[in-house]
Amino acid sequence: MASLGVNIDHIANIRQARRTVEPDPVTHALLAELGGADGITVHLREDRRHIQDRDVELLRATVRTKLNLEMAATEEMVAVATRIRPDMVTVVPERREEVTTEGGMDVAAREREISAITARLQESGIPVSLFVDPEARQLEACARTGCRWIELHTGGYAEAAAEARTAELARLIEGTARARALGLRVNAGHGLTYQNVEAVAAIEGMEELNIGHTIVARAVAVGLQEAVRQMRALIQNPRCSEDSGVRPA
Ligand code: PXP
Repeated sequence: MASLGVNIDHIANIRQARRTVEPDPVTHALLAELGGADGITVHLREDRRHIQDRDVELLRATVRTKLNLEMAATEEMVAVATRIRPDMVTVVPERREEVTTEGGMDVAAREREISAITARLQESGIPVSLFVDPEARQLEACARTGCRWIELHTGGYAEAAAEARTAELARLIEGTARARALGLRVNAGHGLTYQNVEAVAAIEGMEELNIGHTIVARAVAVGLQEAVRQMRALIQNPRCSEDSGVRPA
């Protein structure tokens, strides 16, 4: 059975929209763990658009499951990873102008560079996973880098129109089998939702799914009524005369 890594970048996105302190991805990682997350995933981007260095440091100290750090293959990020020591690094492609990670990494084209970074991280004791599309050429290149894990990009499947979805699922199934035959362990993620996750979770040999956006969207959906109720109660029953007006969270 596949385990669940919860990607909490989307919590940080909301915080950064206001440059304030809430919602805090660190406290919400704890809630995700209480809800049964098998791991917490964060992407520390070069432009720090959502997750901040402080978040990663605090998460390292507080996450009790598994901390998976997504990062670009850069010197700066290798230095962060070797200092923070996450339980896994997932190397992802990164472009400043993208809204989110748009495709798998072209490991075949960057084999030497990715191999060197993989070796440095693994020599310092951090398991490395490479985020790639389910293409034979990429999977073979991943195996040559010396990494032990890959994360298959499920965006093609998630975004496919109904008539193309079966073929995209078949690519993921074949990619998983091929990667495992090459000695790689397989995770997957990107764009998975409550509607499309089951077929991916059922793939033989799939170990972990990293899921973020849809879970945060669902949290808003299931939590909004209660949040409004709490605010309304404060407005209808103010206690300004009894205290300073400052209420605990
Ligand atoms: N895996 C990787 C490598 C990602 O970059 C992302 C997006 O941050 C995810 C999984 C999670 O994707 P989503 O937020 O669409 O569930």
